[in-house]
Amino acid sequence: MVPETSDLPPAVAPVEVAVIGAGYVGLTSAVCFAHLGLRVVCADVDEKKVRALAAGRPTHHEPEIEDLLRAGIDRGNLRFVVGAEAAVGDADVVFLCLPTPMADDGRPDLSYLTDVATAIGPCLRPETVVVDKSTVPVGTATLVADCLDRSDVTVVANPEFLREGQAVHDFLNPDRVVIGGDDHGAVDRVAALYAPLGCPVVRTDAVSAEITKYAANAFLVTKLSFANSVAAVCEALGGDAHDVLLGVGYDHRVGHAHLRPGPGWGGSCFPKDVHALLHLAHDAGEPFHLLQAVLDANESQFDRVAARIVALASRGGQDPVVAAWGLTFKADTDDLRESPAIAVLRRVSAAGVRVQVYDPVTDAERLATFDPDLGVSVASDAYAACAGADLLVVLTEWGEFARLDLERVAGMLRTPQVFDTRGVLDRSELERHRLLPPPLERS
Ligand SMILES: NC(=O)c1ccc[n+]([C@@H]2O[C@H](COP(=O)([O-])OP(=O)(O)OC[C@H]3O[C@@H](n4cnc5c(N)ncnc54)[C@H](O)[C@@H]3O)[C@@H](O)[C@H]2O)c1
Repeated sequence: MVPETSDLPPAVAPVEVAVIGAGYVGLTSAVCFAHLGLRVVCADVDEKKVRALAAGRPTHHEPEIEDLLRAGIDRGNLRFVVGAEAAVGDADVVFLCLPTPMADDGRPDLSYLTDVATAIGPCLRPETVVVDKSTVPVGTATLVADCLDRSDVTVVANPEFLREGQAVHDFLNPDRVVIGGDDHGAVDRVAALYAPLGCPVVRTDAVSAEITKYAANAFLVTKLSFANSVAAVCEALGGDAHDVLLGVGYDHRVGHAHLRPGPGWGGSCFPKDVHALLHLAHDAGEPFHLLQAVLDANESQFDRVAARIVALASRGGQDPVVAAWGLTFKADTDDLRESPAIAVLRRVSAAGVRVQVYDPVTDAERLATFDPDLGVSVASDAYAACAGADLLVVLTEWGEFARLDLERVAGMLRTPQVFDTRGVLDRSELERHRLLPPPLERS
């Protein structure tokens, strides 16, 4: 729920904020800081993106972002420009929300950050605070400071924890804000921007802030892989994983969040951040064996889920066909990067099984641009994907899947069986329509 601007304590303005990068993190930060009453200039290199945003049209799917974008533009405290240099001249605080993708060696590619820092250094006013919001390895605050080459400008680390699909909610209702830097005055200036949100603020040094983000994601993937491993044991022993994890999660020391089985974890952050932390730990002489095991378990999970899909679909006889619902890495986002659904379907398709997929926000053209070699066909709607299929597999937890008519699904399938990897469908309805497959024989 987005709080009304009038409900918030008075803004700490007049402050001018520049946000560099208008992607999932940058655009969310820009519209939310504008919502909090700050003057915001958001820059991107992508001219088409800047034109669309300046016209009030979001460039990625994210709940609530369009309303805040339009409100900010209408109020006159949110604007978009092409190029970082054009955004920073009047800024008091500059947020770097740039990509840090995984390079070929598994380490983060920091060139987006270093290029921008080098370019904006000469354009900054004295006393500007430059904030790393990107997820970055230890030492990046120092690296950015070196590139800026300005003794009168301070760099602070302020990692972002928002989740795609709930980005606006998470930004405006954070569990905590972490700010790291040696200059306490600069840390305070950044903390003041978040003051209206009333959340805990962890003030620390830059190194600790940088590690906090990686450690948080490492813990979350460990919990997810733990749930998947428990689910595998349940399957082998005849237990119900959902009930078991429900029982475990009620312990307040454990909690239910991220304790649900699924097809494996992925997305634009988890895999690259896990690799980055593994490298950091290794280079520091403290190999993170637990996290390596989690990464290996996740690859096994993709294999396990794909093998189950192939085995179930093959019950229908020769030339099995699989219907798949969901392609994005999670619900309520259009982000396909490192999607577990795609990791699983790539394996299914490689096993010679035909796949008909439906995703609420991905059409054939978009999928072909993203992954021309996936080898699956894209159906126009969820029911059409089921036509003549020997199995329906649910791979992403879109809420709309839970509202679909399972009787109609049963009528469309050639072999009526459903494998719901996310647990989004009503189990009693699946039972009522005889869509739950009998257990597979274990070899
Ligand atoms: N996506 C998430 O859920 C999430 C959550 C927390 C942290 N992060 C971290 O935040 C950072 C950004 O992630 P993202 O998902 O927003 O990335 P993104 O790819 O969605 O957005 C990055 C944006 O930066 C722009 N850009 C690239 N070079 C530029 C330049 N020289 N000047 C101006 N703009 C430029 C791109 O055009 C793009 O719009 C990463 O380090 C990521 O790990 C992401």
